[in-house]
Amino acid sequence: MKIYNPPRTNLQASNVILGMMRISDMDDEEIRALVGTARDAGINFFDHADIYGGAHGCEKRFGDAVTFTDAEREAVIIQSKVGIRQGFFDFSKEHILRSVDESLAALNIDYLDILLLHRPDTLVEPEDVAAAFDALHAAGKVRNFGVSNQTPGVIELLKRSVNQPLAFNQVQLSITHAPLIAQGVAANMAGLDQSIDRDNGLLEYSRLNDITLQAWSPFQSGIFDGVFVGDRENYGPLNDALDDIAAAHGVTPTGIAVAWITRHPANIQVVLGTTKPARVVESAAGSGIPLSREEWYRLFTTAGHVLP
Ligand SMILES: NC(=O)c1ccc[n+]([C@@H]2O[C@H](COP(=O)([O-])OP(=O)(O)OC[C@H]3O[C@@H](n4cnc5c(N)ncnc54)[C@H](OP(=O)(O)O)[C@@H]3O)[C@@H](O)[C@H]2O)c1
Repeated sequence: MKIYNPPRTNLQASNVILGMMRISDMDDEEIRALVGTARDAGINFFDHADIYGGAHGCEKRFGDAVTFTDAEREAVIIQSKVGIRQGFFDFSKEHILRSVDESLAALNIDYLDILLLHRPDTLVEPEDVAAAFDALHAAGKVRNFGVSNQTPGVIELLKRSVNQPLAFNQVQLSITHAPLIAQGVAANMAGLDQSIDRDNGLLEYSRLNDITLQAWSPFQSGIFDGVFVGDRENYGPLNDALDDIAAAHGVTPTGIAVAWITRHPANIQVVLGTTKPARVVESAAGSGIPLSREEWYRLFTTAGHVLP
């Protein structure tokens, strides 16, 4: 497992993260087995949000199932998110402060290693966010901050007021859902959908500003509409490529789907959503595979992206 220091933090983080969005129906034993398998595979990073499983539902399942000694707590990185409410987005100071307190109680921990603003609230008052972050940081409740699904423009707006580094941005990225990467490859092409810039140059902005990107839904073909690994009906050539490259590196296609993301020099983290320990092991194996350019671009083009 590749462990590295995300810029502008003191963290030593695995580049594969276990996401906790889908654990609400798992029992304590199943959650402990999943988390234990991840730890054994070298994953030290767990991703939550206040809304997963209903209000703090998945956080509570995790907190009820997993107990950390002080040493174990310091050895793991627990991240959560705030900002999505039922029918609206809310970056108000009051909501951020209240939700973090509720997250800590549900998770049964004293501090979050990282808090992300989940999706952009266009009614944001950056001074409000800054006041909330200052209070959380000063109280020792949150050690690092970041955002999710946000453009360079929103990050610049927040940066003008927020005192702590915005060190992370969690965004949707898989081989098949890759506008973040594919747009730049096809820049300057008329009449090509792939050339449309949907995030205002976020990839290069993140690299230039030392913001670590985290890829959510790494195996989903679109937004929760199925997994491309093994889907020969819709992704035959891609699955041929995954199989060939997996065999060449002695891992499974799942590991190669992870490696396609971790191979990018932007040091992108991969946020897994599986509830199956075996898939965690297969995914972790992709953490450090040095795909060649030929392999990486074969996966890119067989997924349907264009090289002009
Ligand atoms: N910031 C955001 O806006 C945002 C949005 C969504 C998610 N997230 C985070 O990202 C994490 C990952 O998202 P995700 O769960 O959508 O990611 P994912 O890992 O792409 O998808 C996981 C789902 O795909 C299934 N799956 C994976 N590989 C499979 C295979 N080879 N064959 C059949 N099924 C397979 C899993 O089933 P099994 O459980 O059976 O393996 C699970 O239902 C979440 O847990 C959450 O932490 C963030």
